[in-house]
Amino acid sequence: MNSLNKLQTLKKRLIDFKLVQGPLAGVSHHVFREGVWAYSEPAWVCSEMISCQTIANGSKALHQRFLGISKNEGPLCLQIAASSEKDIKDAFGVINTLNVALVDLNAGCPVQKVRKRGMGSALLESPDRLLEVLLAMRDHSAVPISVKIRLQQDQSKDDRVLAVIHKANVDFLTVHGRTYLDGYDVAVNHARIGYFAKNARIPVLGNGDVCDATSAHQMLSVGVSGVMVGRFGVGQPWLIGDIQRSLGFAFGLKSTHDRNPAKLFFQHVERMCKLPGGEKFAILSGYGLIKYFAKRHQMPPEMIEQVRQCKTLLDLGNAMIRYY
Ligand SMILES: Cc1cc2nc3c(=O)[nH]c(=O)nc-3n(C[C@H](O)[C@H](O)[C@H](O)COP(=O)(O)O)c2cc1C
Repeated sequence: MNSLNKLQTLKKRLIDFKLVQGPLAGVSHHVFREGVWAYSEPAWVCSEMISCQTIANGSKALHQRFLGISKNEGPLCLQIAASSEKDIKDAFGVINTLNVALVDLNAGCPVQKVRKRGMGSALLESPDRLLEVLLAMRDHSAVPISVKIRLQQDQSKDDRVLAVIHKANVDFLTVHGRTYLDGYDVAVNHARIGYFAKNARIPVLGNGDVCDATSAHQMLSVGVSGVMVGRFGVGQPWLIGDIQRSLGFAFGLKSTHDRNPAKLFFQHVERMCKLPGGEKFAILSGYGLIKYFAKRHQMPPEMIEQVRQCKTLLDLGNAMIRYY
């Protein structure tokens, strides 16, 4: 497929399916993404962020973890972090050999360690560097490109960012409606997402606090072409399918599987054993993930405690089975 066809395919998917599962560091590896595809049919699903340096020079285990793709996945958006043209050139030698549908630049990460290296949301404060990176992506990528931004504190700079995005001929823009100082709890600014949707010449996806059909509808009503789900997709792989069904634009709904959260959690941890680090990694990841499942499904505190006591998959299976 040539690049124009690849772009048209993604644009059509966004029109048809409207929702995308966003990138979540520590979560969105291929095991998580496979789970989303088992229950829902998003336009695409994003990987967790990986730096271009790791893509170019990372170990086999890092590549397995961050660049591993399952045969059970639909279109994948690989999210990268970069701060220079050189980063991009080196990384795309690897990326262009992978089966990815879209490559997204992270220009929103608020983490200090990332910002200090000139990546993530720091790129928004250096429009020349943002342009350099996006132009390099445009030059080197064999697939369409996108960028995910947060809002800047100074609203008057929105046009400047948009001008850079247009100049680099980026294909999609995702706007998370908070600044990097807002963290995740400040209310999402829908009006400012709407400003981007109105003024961008490319499809814009709105992101932040979408947890059900009402909040997805609220996001769509500011004029965005698509909606990116973030945290609320964790522990609820059926969420995108449910929203699509409620809003009446579903095509390939698959959400008829078992929805028992304890079973889902156990199966997720079990499948994570195939990632580098095996059972130990899977159990440790489970300690972090259980808080998402607990929040979404009102799990009792003793259940969370039991998960955190488990040292092996067998322990976890024995602990979870009583909640099936
Ligand atoms: C644990 C965690 C990890 C995240 N990792 C990434 C990431 O790797 N790349 C990125 O662009 N955004 C990342 N985000 C931000 C989300 O993609 C999303 O923009 C944010 O959570 C707002 O959407 P939500 O309110 O629907 O969760 C992360 C957020 C959380 C909570």
